[in-house]
Amino acid sequence: MNLPDYIEASRRTKLKKDIEYYNNDIKNIGLGKTYHIKTYGCQMNEHDTENLKAMLEELGFTYNDNYLTSDLVLLNTCSIRENAHNKAFGMLGRLKHLKEENPNLIVGLCGCMAQEEGVVSEILNKYKWVNFVFGTHNIHRLPYIINEVLNNNTNEIEVFSKEGNIIEGIPVKRDSKYKAYVNIIYGCDKFCTYCIVPFTRGGQRSRLKEDIVKEVEQLVKDGYMEVTLLGQNVNAYGKDLNLGYGMEKLLEEVSKTNIPRIRFVTSHPWDFTDGMIDCITRHENIMPAIHLPVQSGSNKILKMMGRKYTKEEYLTLFNKMKERIPRVSISTDIIVGFPGEDREDFNETIDLVNKCKFDNAFTFIYSKREHTPATKLKDNTPLEEKERRLNQLNEIVNKYFLENNKKLVGTLVPVLVEGISDKKNELYGYTDTNKLINFKGNDDIIGKIVTVKVTSAKTWSLDGELYDK
Ligand code: 5AD
Ligand code: SF4
Repeated sequence: MNLPDYIEASRRTKLKKDIEYYNNDIKNIGLGKTYHIKTYGCQMNEHDTENLKAMLEELGFTYNDNYLTSDLVLLNTCSIRENAHNKAFGMLGRLKHLKEENPNLIVGLCGCMAQEEGVVSEILNKYKWVNFVFGTHNIHRLPYIINEVLNNNTNEIEVFSKEGNIIEGIPVKRDSKYKAYVNIIYGCDKFCTYCIVPFTRGGQRSRLKEDIVKEVEQLVKDGYMEVTLLGQNVNAYGKDLNLGYGMEKLLEEVSKTNIPRIRFVTSHPWDFTDGMIDCITRHENIMPAIHLPVQSGSNKILKMMGRKYTKEEYLTLFNKMKERIPRVSISTDIIVGFPGEDREDFNETIDLVNKCKFDNAFTFIYSKREHTPATKLKDNTPLEEKERRLNQLNEIVNKYFLENNKKLVGTLVPVLVEGISDKKNELYGYTDTNKLINFKGNDDIIGKIVTVKVTSAKTWSLDGELYDK
């Protein structure tokens, strides 16, 4: 049994990581059995699930859309806020009843919650019937863990607090035939004071440029139209490698693969260089859509959050992007109710939002996370006041989403058509600036980039008509 340890998880060493290649000699143990995976949280988890699915299918398991009738249910969990926790524990509650009816059901838990000391001890005490738990650093060990559970009828807890080597070649079963996630950097060394990610995802480790480019080249051969380069902070890409290249060089190289669309998330404003901005403007296949979390508009709160920039520095970067990258859309993340945030601080956030008029914003109430530095800060704002601030903020950000969308009415936009929307029986896709658009057309253009004329705007989507195939 390997249990998580927060002190270990927070240590950072300068030791260079080696690369290991995925190797699995276990076969057929899942033949005749079905599996279901519930995924919570960010794109990183969604992509991990694509790896987990492929590994399970290599073992002979087949996918089952319905967890109620599956032989194996795996929860790929998220720790970022308390509600993500509650959802996973709620699901475990439902699975307990299923397991009482069907003792052969195999239940596993992985992802960020598995890296939390408190969660694993709760599972060991109250959820002893969970068959296996593994962390974010050893997803490649899934075949061995399941083999132990099936053959030796044991309960397996395998969580490593320290990140190991970078594992290349883990199989992947992608959800889309047109859009693909590609990891470029794992972990985070920023330690923003509210954030649990540096503990659950470990230290910053970049994949080699050659391995990333090879993966994208294969995607191009397979007919993919878009890649999203993934990392907790993609702009730190390469810093740990000491090979003389960073995010700008990587974008250059990925651009040369001629994949039609490149996106990347998430960017910490601190590491966003002028060179990166120029690189985006130079390459048509790097999309003019940037996610740039600001978190707060108050310098006092930004300092307490450990974000390492001021409101003025953020605005300078923001304005530079708007000036230099034609048609760019910029989205953000904002936390309200951080400990010590008073009305004045909150008004500073509103002021920043009024200046930036973001194209999209994900807004959250601060959630206290185990062992993070912010847990020590005094927080005397009542939850009702935090909810009021969130509602006020949401009203304002929504107003700007609509305003920005309205500016597109009458213009022609390039759209990667992804499929048919359930509700309206229309095609849907995303513009280069990452806006959802619905329009009528034949399904033979699914998977293609077409030109659409925007005819009307809503807060979260556009409507249009096909202009050119
Ligand atoms: N409470 C609320 N929101 C958080 N985020 C990260 N940690 C917390 C927390 N403890 C938000 C940040 C981040 C996004 C992914 O989640 O805004 O950018
Ligand atoms: Fe968390 Fe900050 Fe790292 Fe983002 S940059 S994952 S908010 S610690």
